[in-house]
Amino acid sequence: MIGFFDSGFGGLTVLRSVVDLLPEYDYLYLGDNARVPYGTRSQNVVYEFTRQAVDYLFKQQCPLIIIACNTSSARALRKIQQEFLPETYPDRRVLGVIRPAAEELAERNCRKVGILATEGVVASNIYVEELMNLGPSIKVFQQACPLLVPIIEAGEKEWEGTDMIIGKYLSQLFGQDGEIDTILLACTHYPIVHENFERAVSGKTIVLDQGPIVARKLKDYLKRHPEVDDRLTKKGTKFFLTTDISDKFDHLARIFYGESIHSKLITLESLCF
Ligand code: DGL
Repeated sequence: MIGFFDSGFGGLTVLRSVVDLLPEYDYLYLGDNARVPYGTRSQNVVYEFTRQAVDYLFKQQCPLIIIACNTSSARALRKIQQEFLPETYPDRRVLGVIRPAAEELAERNCRKVGILATEGVVASNIYVEELMNLGPSIKVFQQACPLLVPIIEAGEKEWEGTDMIIGKYLSQLFGQDGEIDTILLACTHYPIVHENFERAVSGKTIVLDQGPIVARKLKDYLKRHPEVDDRLTKKGTKFFLTTDISDKFDHLARIFYGESIHSKLITLESLCF
């Protein structure tokens, strides 16, 4: 199976796009709902939580894992790829969501990009660094949106307060530069409120989700890496795991994933840190 990991529900937005493009593969999704949000936590804590989740998915025999969480991709992916994998699972692969999104921004020839993300991702400066290499002429502006993940996890997309909070973050972003042409929703939770962002920018700025970008890049990766593709089973199944109440997960996941699902409760090696 292809393992998918997120701190909660957000990765389901990426999984949805991937399943739509690559329906023949088998998928195992793990949401660490018991410890969400990751975006406000330190690098060490995010690394340790992510490492535990990756280890769990590898023990379920996933040859490939997609970290469908920007915070984990920013704070943990490099160390997992450079230290944890070579020492523990040298034949497995872990990919994140930041590199594909940065490549897409560079390919689109954007001039001024707004990155909306968690505090952890903004503090890591990872998008600025990636775009410095991939699209050095692009000007990057960042805005942390710490209130959005809890609102989204609470299923409050329709609440009028959500639009107010989005308006506040956008005015802080456009306060840095009024001519931003493209906004990347650089948190896998934010596509749930994509329409709210579209309404707020009213066609003046392109608003991008990562899901379709990651799906296209993954398809391309699997074509370029037949040695990984050959190890992936293809029966079109999906399994869902959560570290917190599974009834609640099933209810909200239906909204995020667009299909009813039945999740299983699991415990990671240590739920406390
Ligand atoms: N889904 C996570 C991301 O893409 C954010 C949620 C969290 O803060 O845990 O960054």
